Amino acid sequence: MILFDKISKAYNGHFALENITLNIEQGEFVSIVGQSGAGKSTLLKLLIAEEKPTSGRIFLDKQDVTALPYAELPFLRRRIGTIFQDFKLLSQKTAYENIAFAMEVVGKSKKEIQEDVPQVLQLVGLEEKAKQFPNQLSGGEQQRVAIARALVHQPDIIIADEPTGNLDPLNTWDVIRLLLKINELGTTILLATHDREIINTLNKRVVSIDKGKVIRDEQNGRYIL
Ligand SMILES: Nc1ncnc2c1ncn2[C@@H]1O[C@H](COP(=O)(O)OP(=O)(O)OP(=O)(O)O)[C@@H](O)[C@H]1O
Ligand SMILES: [Mg+2]
Repeated sequence: MILFDKISKAYNGHFALENITLNIEQGEFVSIVGQSGAGKSTLLKLLIAEEKPTSGRIFLDKQDVTALPYAELPFLRRRIGTIFQDFKLLSQKTAYENIAFAMEVVGKSKKEIQEDVPQVLQLVGLEEKAKQFPNQLSGGEQQRVAIARALVHQPDIIIADEPTGNLDPLNTWDVIRLLLKINELGTTILLATHDREIINTLNKRVVSIDKGKVIRDEQNGRYIL
């Protein structure tokens, strides 16, 4: 489904990623681990075409992501939901409105919005908090709103870059359990994290990156750096 084909990325002559080849199948849950500066975020940014590789290509199904015209990027980014450490919610909008807004900007009808927003809120377990603003929600709840907002586009892939970086252990596990549930519903998950305990509990595929190179790629992987 996703193929990173001999990908390198240099910033000012310094390689953030070097000759990465990775094949990820539909429905996989893949964790990307590595020290700070290893290249995890860079890898994810290349997939959503936020950055262009210095060499190599990235395929999403048959499509070469690195050759997509600018006008096609919004469609790519609807197939790939993104979740970050800082939740990137709009502070002046409620949980419901944050999700509804994401649908409005891509031209969904009022009817679709009224049907879909309650559904995704229910999926993330926040139907009771729909009217609350981000500052009235816990960090974990805010992250779950961000996940609901990504899900409303029915993405094939979710990329989560340190989604639990700002959360306490309880909220961390709420978010991880939710990602697992979404994965069970068929969505491919790419999770970049520093969190050893998460990785060692997940029992999923782990790709370890060190100084821009894949040093380990294992099913039922452990956090080893
Ligand atoms: N826009 C940029 N300009 C120059 N160098 C960059 C840029 N973005 C990333 N880098 C460099 O590329 C390397 C990889 O960075 P990246 O953000 O991918 O690391 P990371 O594994 O996500 O680290 P962290 O765990 O701290 O988030 C680092 O050396 C970083 O300094
Ligand atoms: Mg990073």
